[in-house]
Amino acid sequence: MHDESQRELFAYYNERAQEYDDVYCGKGTAIPHQHLYKKDAAKISNIISSFGKGHIIDIGCGTGYWLPHYARNCEKITLIDVSEKMIAECRNKCDKLGITNKCHCVKGDFFELDFKDHLFDSVLVGFLLSHLTQKTEKAFFEKLRRITVTKAQVFFIDTLWNKLRQQYRKKEGIHERFLNDGRKFRIYKRYFTKSDIHEIFKNNALKLISFSQGHVFFAATGVIEEQ
Ligand SMILES: C[S@@+](CC[C@H](N)C(=O)[O-])C[C@H]1O[C@@H](n2cnc3c(N)ncnc32)[C@H](O)[C@@H]1O
Repeated sequence: MHDESQRELFAYYNERAQEYDDVYCGKGTAIPHQHLYKKDAAKISNIISSFGKGHIIDIGCGTGYWLPHYARNCEKITLIDVSEKMIAECRNKCDKLGITNKCHCVKGDFFELDFKDHLFDSVLVGFLLSHLTQKTEKAFFEKLRRITVTKAQVFFIDTLWNKLRQQYRKKEGIHERFLNDGRKFRIYKRYFTKSDIHEIFKNNALKLISFSQGHVFFAATGVIEEQ
């Protein structure tokens, strides 16, 4: 069951699918310094090119923006997104990259999809953690633990909270977002400092291996610890 705020989040990303990747080129950004978005996206593309192994799950994959950078490291790739239009973009990307045979694109809500226990060796979560409330965060990590092997590798990419962001956004809450055609959506979003990520990893029994901080984004890698 989805509440009103989740439905609006899902609708927002579905309608944004065709313009979503613009943000990585610095278009339609929250902070009016386009070059910082391009710079951070390039930096993360470089880091993620040595990430991934075995069977990876890309949760809330969107258009599959990071796929070209990590695909060669994995034998099998499961990409899931609740948005019909995002997953359609992602399928196109798999086609263009010529890797359809090892990719499985699934339209569905991560919390509702049924996966076998211990199916995945590595996990990518790009800009989804920031849309999870404290309550859904707990359920997210419980499910993640169940569907991954012991010591699965994780890679989180998300949005930074820092002095620059502070000038344009509040740290947590319902934020207004606009599409290119002017349509307005109200979505839940939070931003993270390095110590927030430390805390989230600690609370959910993940070991933080690296934290790379840009100006607007960060990339954190880790391992799901045995319990
Ligand atoms: C901010 S976009 C990030 C896309 C991609 N990971 C990236 O880094 O470019 C978040 C994506 O998560 C999807 N999403 C949000 N909640 C989800 C859920 N519960 N299950 C699956 N996908 C979800 C949205 O539809 C959207 O495509």
